[in-house]
Amino acid sequence: MRATASAGSEAAHLRVRGPFDQHTAGEDAMTLAAFGSVEELLLKKTTDTPVFCFYPKALRAAARCFVEGFPGQVLYAVKANPSPHVVRWIVEGGVREFDTASIREIVLVRGILEDARYSFNHPVKHRNAIVAAHRDWGIRDFVVDHMAELDKLLEVVGSDIVVQVRVATPNPHARLSFNSKFGATPGEAVALLRALAQRGAAAAVSTHLGYQTTDPGAFGKGLQLVAQVVEAAGIQPAYVNVGGGFPSVLLPKGSSLKDYFHVIGATHAGESSISAAPLKCEPGSALAHPGGGVLTQVLLVKENSIYINDGIYGALAELIHSKIQPPTRVLMRDGTERTGMLRHYTVFGPTCDSYDTIPVPFELPAALREGDWLQLGMMGAYSSALITDFNGLGVHEFAVIGDYSRP
Ligand SMILES: Cc1ncc(COP(=O)(O)O)c(C=O)c1O
Repeated sequence: MRATASAGSEAAHLRVRGPFDQHTAGEDAMTLAAFGSVEELLLKKTTDTPVFCFYPKALRAAARCFVEGFPGQVLYAVKANPSPHVVRWIVEGGVREFDTASIREIVLVRGILEDARYSFNHPVKHRNAIVAAHRDWGIRDFVVDHMAELDKLLEVVGSDIVVQVRVATPNPHARLSFNSKFGATPGEAVALLRALAQRGAAAAVSTHLGYQTTDPGAFGKGLQLVAQVVEAAGIQPAYVNVGGGFPSVLLPKGSSLKDYFHVIGATHAGESSISAAPLKCEPGSALAHPGGGVLTQVLLVKENSIYINDGIYGALAELIHSKIQPPTRVLMRDGTERTGMLRHYTVFGPTCDSYDTIPVPFELPAALREGDWLQLGMMGAYSSALITDFNGLGVHEFAVIGDYSRP
């Protein structure tokens, strides 16, 4: 693979920063060291710090897959990976609209795409945040799931806005349900939609099926429930937002996101109460996962256990929920791949407590040695955003693999 102009940079050019530094819009102006491959990076690396790798090509491709395949408008849920670089590559893949959960996310996106469109899609917002979003950032699209939040919202900014009513959609096929925290029951949602009509704000409907929904049919069922709510409320929604929840790391073998797009499109077309309303979605993990990877080094091999220099307080936090071994390669210090017979290892992170344990065993070469590097793929979502400095071990380097200068 060809490296960019900065690919020849010394390893010292890798940015070494704490977790929050990379989330400021200012970072967009910075160049990260780019390498043609992870092997090249390892050959030039002089430190023992874990590396978070960005894959721009994969991010653009994931964005294009949604923009070209989803039967409606695609928003990126910034929380999945708020790196300005990631946002930029997703924009280069064709996404122009964003699901934001805070003023900082709004500011971050504005720093990258001046004419970006946003929704403030956190169902629970501070009054100050509502004011700032509306007055300073021109946001006119919000979400609620309770009458008290609707009262607060309309009291603060008036009714010249679109309000999405978030409906809880029970779904046994999600790895992590959000329904215990967010989402109105059908009855509550009907009341909210009617209240919106009475109070003069435009009504839309949204849902979130839950993290990593492994059955496309669950989106169909969710949409049917939304359609029933809309019919009972007797309103015409401005749009229907099916949320995130698309699978990436847990995409079942043999299926593709097209299956999900197809079910969503067909169900939408078949439900007369919502078929005239445009569709939206706001994926986080399905857009960000393919665009990130982690390089973490083996500190110690103890029989069937290994200790590595990244863990659940670092960039591997999301493995607690996905509970799978991400696509893994083992590389020796010179970048050569270690292969051969495999065995199962318990994987421990670097901090001094037992919670820092990867919840599933990893299958790795039996010849694994201290100093080897694990190259973990599909780590772009809920990873670099969650790095903490617990035990003083939060420092990561950030690097680009591939050419990030051109779409
Ligand atoms: C409102 C909202 N939309 C979208 C997402 C992204 O979800 P996912 O990563 O499952 O696509 C989330 C995740 O928390 C969310 O809370």
